[in-house]
Amino acid sequence: MEAGNIVLIGFMGSGKSTVSRRLARRLHWDVVDTDRLVEEQAGLGIPDIFASVGEAGFRELETRVIAGLRAVRRTVVATGGGVILSGENRRLLRELGFTVWLTASPDVLFERVSRNSDRPLLQSANPRETLDRLLEERRQRYTEVADCVVDSTHLSHRAVVDLITARAGQYFGWERVGSG
Ligand code: S3P
Repeated sequence: MEAGNIVLIGFMGSGKSTVSRRLARRLHWDVVDTDRLVEEQAGLGIPDIFASVGEAGFRELETRVIAGLRAVRRTVVATGGGVILSGENRRLLRELGFTVWLTASPDVLFERVSRNSDRPLLQSANPRETLDRLLEERRQRYTEVADCVVDSTHLSHRAVVDLITARAGQYFGWERVGSG
């Protein structure tokens, strides 16, 4: 049984956090961001979580956060880019509602993630190579979870929100939702 939320999945830099806030505003829904919930639970920022408990420790916290979302309704859920790596997470996310895979070209993703250094997985000798490899490793997982795919390479945030609203309307069988 699926809970009627909208879940945004996608690689780092695909725009999940920004789009989730704007989409929630449009729909008058709540918004949560699993990265922020993990940080709240740990009392640490993501780079510090990776430094102290490693990626495996971060993934455990992430799964606990996702499992804790079972009761949310009318909520836009933004997720971390690696959330789809765990089979349990993939199942939990699908139960949460309509799942949207936000994508963008590797060049655009790289340009966006290069603006800050808060992503431990990309602090490598060759971040572009790492990005390409992770994308390839994860593509199939995103596909498994996604009810629909939105490519934001050439779209404004507003256009992305328009598209997701329209697709969600078809999925949930809504009447037209006003824009704004
Ligand atoms: C990760 C993506 C990050 C964050 C963590 C790990 C990943 O979230 O969860 O750094 O494995 O792709 P964003 O996709 O919001 O950057």
